[in-house]
Amino acid sequence: MGSDVIIAPSVLSADFSKLGDEIESVVNAGADWIHLDVMDGHFVPNITFGPPIIKAVRNRTDKVFDCHLMIEPCDPFLNAFADAGCDIITVHAEATKHLDRSLQAIRALGKKAGVSLNPSTPESAIEYVLDRLDLILIMTVNPGFGGQAFIDAMVEKVARVKAMIGDRPIDIEIDGGVSPKTTPQLVKAGANVLVAGSAVFKGGSEEHYRDNITAIRNAAT
Ligand code: DX5
Ligand code: ZN
Repeated sequence: MGSDVIIAPSVLSADFSKLGDEIESVVNAGADWIHLDVMDGHFVPNITFGPPIIKAVRNRTDKVFDCHLMIEPCDPFLNAFADAGCDIITVHAEATKHLDRSLQAIRALGKKAGVSLNPSTPESAIEYVLDRLDLILIMTVNPGFGGQAFIDAMVEKVARVKAMIGDRPIDIEIDGGVSPKTTPQLVKAGANVLVAGSAVFKGGSEEHYRDNITAIRNAAT
């Protein structure tokens, strides 16, 4: 277990003044996917970037662009994020009135569909949309900021989601407070995609990123 864990650095902790270079560095350092945190200052208390920025850095790597939308509403913007070059588009269950419709819209754009759950949202919220999902993103902090403390109670939610999806080919992704310390219990509970912002970008150089990613990967195996 854990040998094929996907590491998805969150560029929220990168140096935005050289975002394209940071993406190249983290890919050279061993990143599997690039996690893009889109925040609107409404659904979450912070604002980051949108489709034009994503489009501008899309040509810096062929790696999967894993787009985490923390915006409400999300439906009017799905097309723009697909056009910008996102491969996976994840919406929050709490940010769309018609989750089933939002997920259908993402797949209709030819993209992989993900849903994210805030820490307080029970996994039952997605019980009836499992067959429309490629990925479930379990928030292990309250969304909005990097560098927050991991919420231990979420490990049980990961195990419950793992049991709920059965043999469906759905990725279980964890976001928030992922580090070499929190990784083993998450992988044991069934997670196979680990997002990490501060734990990957600390140190600020490609050599640090390589060491940081290796430490998480080793903790997962
Ligand atoms: C938080 C974002 C995360 C964030 C994680 O709302 O969704 O992706 O960057 O940061 P760390 O890994 O520092 O907790
Ligand atoms: Zn995220």
